[in-house]
Amino acid sequence: MTRTATLTYGDQTIELPVIEGTEGELGVDISQLRAKTGLITLDPGFGNTGACQSGVTFIDGDKGILRYRGLPIEQLAEHSTFVETAWLLINGKLPNRAELDQFSKRLTKYAPLHEGFKNHFEGFPLNAPPMAILSAMINTLSSSSCDGRQAPEDDIDELSAKLMSKVRTIAAYSYRRSLGLPFIYPDPKLRYVANFLHMMFSMPYEQHIASQEVVDALNLILMLHADHEQNCSTSTVRVVGSSKANLYASCAAGVGALWGPLHGGANVAVLEMLEAIHKGGMSAAEALALAKDKQSGFKLMGFGHRVYKNFDPRALILKRAADKVLERLGVRDPLLDVARKLEELALIDPYFVERKLYPNVDFYSGILMRAMGIPTSMFTVIFAIGRMPGWIAHWKEQNQDAASRIARPRQIYTGPTLQSYTPIDQR
Ligand code: SDX
Repeated sequence: MTRTATLTYGDQTIELPVIEGTEGELGVDISQLRAKTGLITLDPGFGNTGACQSGVTFIDGDKGILRYRGLPIEQLAEHSTFVETAWLLINGKLPNRAELDQFSKRLTKYAPLHEGFKNHFEGFPLNAPPMAILSAMINTLSSSSCDGRQAPEDDIDELSAKLMSKVRTIAAYSYRRSLGLPFIYPDPKLRYVANFLHMMFSMPYEQHIASQEVVDALNLILMLHADHEQNCSTSTVRVVGSSKANLYASCAAGVGALWGPLHGGANVAVLEMLEAIHKGGMSAAEALALAKDKQSGFKLMGFGHRVYKNFDPRALILKRAADKVLERLGVRDPLLDVARKLEELALIDPYFVERKLYPNVDFYSGILMRAMGIPTSMFTVIFAIGRMPGWIAHWKEQNQDAASRIARPRQIYTGPTLQSYTPIDQR
């Protein structure tokens, strides 16, 4: 029996179907609303609007639940790797050994960039933001078989592996370019994360061997960032992909959305905020007071979330990892103390408690990356590398849905009513 919602407007009453998801979420299907009533809905920021039905990731913001294809993030963080989790998100189930080996071989195969492709980097200024380079170079991937082997457009498995592998190389090269250092070629003997760290930090005369602690910590960071249902950047990938734009063009657009300080750029903003507090610009209490003052324009970066009205489960995992990794690496970071103080004060402050503002994934990730020697300029790029499998999974889900339509929202027009043209000498 189809559940319905009743809408009465003026002398008209209509029934709208209510859709129920596998976790009990309910949504009113308004696809016939305008045809039946002439009405549209208005929901700036889409806080109450479902854009699609999806089976990739489930979040319960009130309970702090995050599951990739039904698997709790806590179990994946404990037992899985970023590459295995990426395959899970893209293919809908955990891979068997043969599937994982094939995926790993493809990631190795596609790691190198075409020598001619490297010349594009010469066009960027040395201080070019790595996110700008990443977005531009991902788009360039779609314009050239940058490794001499063009994956067929309809072979999503090959395209996915190619994109996931090359974003790592592009990111490392953008970092090396910013320092005027030579590009370091990928090493086929190294697995995904260790190869990235090798390309980031090795020198032609000395290979960088990352410690297992750092490799494990970066694996965890990438896995925790791998997907998050209809967030701003994933929604962007879906909107671009809805016009049947290719996977690379869609993910290049996702990089642009992720770059914003309210989204993926928050991990950099958190470090800047913590450093400002630590260097004596302000105390933790003053930072909270500033965040509560609407006139200040200051927000407590790394706090709050559109969906989580409880702890972001990723923040809890990252907080524990930061404690453990800093101790193992013998790193003493005063910014971690500042972060803990801010969290302690915010969790008992009525302003934050009433608005259910808790630490989100960005609050501790930067401290952990800093301890691992990742430069701040690369924090949001690391987020993009982690989110790539999620973007691919959502693009693929939509691309394979015969019922999907081009995204084209409506609006409520508030501009001038009918005007007439006046010649310039009469204005
Ligand atoms: C990510 O969507 C995702 O899933 C994103 C993400 C992912 O994995 O893809 O989880 C990754 O982007 C995490 C969020 C990173 N951004 C930040 O940490 C920036 C700081 N946070 C805020 O900008 C804000 O909390 C957002 C952007 C995260 C959420 O914004 P919303 O949902 O639009 O919330 P809102 O602005 O409507 O806030 C509600 C109230 C407002 O106060 P009132 O008008 O009710 O008085 O809470 C206040 C806001 O002013 N508020 C904050 C605050 N966040 C919200 N006040 C101070 N500091 C903050 N951080």
